[in-house]
Amino acid sequence: VSRVALKVLSDSSPALNAPQFIRGEGIHLIRDDGAVFVDAASGTFNLPLGYNHPEIVEAVVEQVRRYSHLSSTIRTDRGPNALDELIEQAPSNIQAGWFRDLTGSTANECAVKIAQKSSGKTDILSLFLSHHGQTQFTTAISGNSFRRKQFPDALSPHSIKMPAPYCHRCFFNATPSSCGMMCVEKIGDFLEHASSGSVACMIVEPILGNGGNIVPPPGYFQAISKLCAENDILMIADEVQTGMGRTGHLFASEAFDWKPNIITLAKGLGGIGIPVAAVLYEARLDVLDSHDHSFTSGANPVALAAMTATLKVLRSGEVLADVRRNGVKLGALLGALKEKHRSIGDVRGLGYMWGLEIDKPDGSPDVSRTEAIIKAAAASHNLILRGSRYGFGNVVKVRPPLIATEGDLETIVTRLSRAITDVERAG
Ligand SMILES: Cc1ncc(COP(=O)(O)O)c(C=O)c1O
Repeated sequence: VSRVALKVLSDSSPALNAPQFIRGEGIHLIRDDGAVFVDAASGTFNLPLGYNHPEIVEAVVEQVRRYSHLSSTIRTDRGPNALDELIEQAPSNIQAGWFRDLTGSTANECAVKIAQKSSGKTDILSLFLSHHGQTQFTTAISGNSFRRKQFPDALSPHSIKMPAPYCHRCFFNATPSSCGMMCVEKIGDFLEHASSGSVACMIVEPILGNGGNIVPPPGYFQAISKLCAENDILMIADEVQTGMGRTGHLFASEAFDWKPNIITLAKGLGGIGIPVAAVLYEARLDVLDSHDHSFTSGANPVALAAMTATLKVLRSGEVLADVRRNGVKLGALLGALKEKHRSIGDVRGLGYMWGLEIDKPDGSPDVSRTEAIIKAAAASHNLILRGSRYGFGNVVKVRPPLIATEGDLETIVTRLSRAITDVERAG
């Protein structure tokens, strides 16, 4: 049984006597043999404040001492106050929220339910390469067939997927300077020919995370906003990965000057990895009844304590300003790696959310080299990184916790460069 558990917990299925990670400290993970690793992936992109931020730890411990669960039929000040604090920080058109999820997947399901119930319409537009979750339905609306393959119910008759704004590998074989933004222009064709004629919403990640850190070109969100407004389609920003400061803004949609009608948050919302999710939306969309969408551990008091403390840290300190400033430096350091390493085909990102596209000399994706770089970084340079598309992609993601200092960023890029050199030398 333990061998099976280990395989689930580790891609490389280590031997039973292999060193184990026993402690996290700030942006570091520490093994029982004393080795210290820099976590440049922020866990599963869900540790904006690192592993053990004292204010979050304190808030969680204090809440556990009082109670860890209350039935939703019992009144508590925790839920409404936490939701109010979150909404206060949200873009001005957002005035309401639903707080009954623990994961990004079900938060996205909730957002689609809101769009469908409020509009009376059915279809959901989403993008190739998108990742909106692991439930059957969110797998159905995500843009990857490899995750649907063996699960016949992971399909939705109302899902319409369209080419992503992926300029490095444009679906239309065009270039940003002259394409006229065909990835938006052609949506009209999908509405006309591929939909049921009843489109409720479009769900988009501000930066496509799992798909490969794909940053839409300037003007993309303004163009889809215009198109959605003209067609009475609600916009959902899936900020599960990009929200809570990752881009240097509390909400990633703010970074793109985009005002979606619904925003989903999870991952970073719990600060140090405490699971919690939220769905925020315009007041007119407050249509759900409690039986429509609710889970036993929704609005869990421990999760809300972590979220409230996380918001306080992000609001009161210099964290977001640091991410905006240092993020520019991180981009410059990674850009310099592209000059040095022939296998890097593109460098893109914002704040503390960057990706390096690893290409073959002919420009095609080099998936095996991508995986080799990630393995070399961990095995020889004590640097934890993650790849894209569950190992099917060719992007190395660099996403340190938001508390990483300028010095930490330099360390990460130096170690990453050494790992790439190792792999390039090996052929
Ligand atoms: C953009 C995005 N949406 C949704 C999800 C699903 O979130 P969860 O794993 O918390 O269900 C993820 C997870 O990686 C994600 O990156």
